[in-house]
Amino acid sequence: MPGKPEKSEKSEKPEKQQAQKKALGNATSLVRKFLRKSVASHPYFVRLAAEPLDLGAVWLLMANLREGISRHFIQWLATTIERVHDRRIGSLLAVQLNDELGRGDFSQIHSLLLDRFVTGLSRWRVEGSNDELLRAGQRLAQEAARPFAAADPYEGVGALVAGEIFAEKMDTALAHEMERQDLLSDDVLTWLHLHAQLEVDHAEDSGELALLIPKDEVSLAAAWRGAENFWKTLWQFLDEVHAVQMSLQRPGERRRSTVGRVAADPTARAGRETRRRAPGRDQKRSGGISPSRAARS
Ligand SMILES: [Fe+2]
Repeated sequence: MPGKPEKSEKSEKPEKQQAQKKALGNATSLVRKFLRKSVASHPYFVRLAAEPLDLGAVWLLMANLREGISRHFIQWLATTIERVHDRRIGSLLAVQLNDELGRGDFSQIHSLLLDRFVTGLSRWRVEGSNDELLRAGQRLAQEAARPFAAADPYEGVGALVAGEIFAEKMDTALAHEMERQDLLSDDVLTWLHLHAQLEVDHAEDSGELALLIPKDEVSLAAAWRGAENFWKTLWQFLDEVHAVQMSLQRPGERRRSTVGRVAADPTARAGRETRRRAPGRDQKRSGGISPSRAARS
């Protein structure tokens, strides 16, 4: 290319660097950015809300989340605790890790609760091979693992911050939709109830975590990179789940079960993605139903 455009690009660089520096100047801006984003506006959730509740679509999402996050989340948390030398960050993440593992109560290990949820939904499992139906989760497992293996451990911290916020929004949207059905027992729904009630605290934890990110440019840039990429990965995961769901709906490819499709109740959607009141942190840690601060799994 001729020299002119190249010169123009060069002249833009300092401005871009300034803007980036300004954006990185405040760790809380990282949290604010993701709090402003919506997950309920993703086409997967828009369709779920607009039609009679499709428990086959819910099975597809949860089975893929189990594949992509639940099986690996303990390792990602533990790795970040080990790699980040700031013990305050380790302290926050260790609480989450403990909760993920059921706080010593094996029956409350979150991955087992999710297994129970997916098993309860399996009546509505859509037709197809696991390779086909769980590809989104398998890709998510690969992509979401990257920040936790990055050279700078603060990339993992950034990913956890964004992941907590995404999880809060996703679980809230899902919980609102599931209120339209009464086909699943409370026992099966334990994972959902647990996470839907406590995700508000998870977002608060993200704010606390972000404030502990060192102010130097390298660490902040790593955290931003981890957060941005993790959010993008989760959004693309929903894209893929939605694409599979849509492919099952094409004429001549109607393979999903229609059992359990529940008539839409518009009132159930009121207040979507609004924040719920959850037990205070002290109350939560001292007892109540299965206290947890975990984002996913
Ligand atoms: Fe969890």
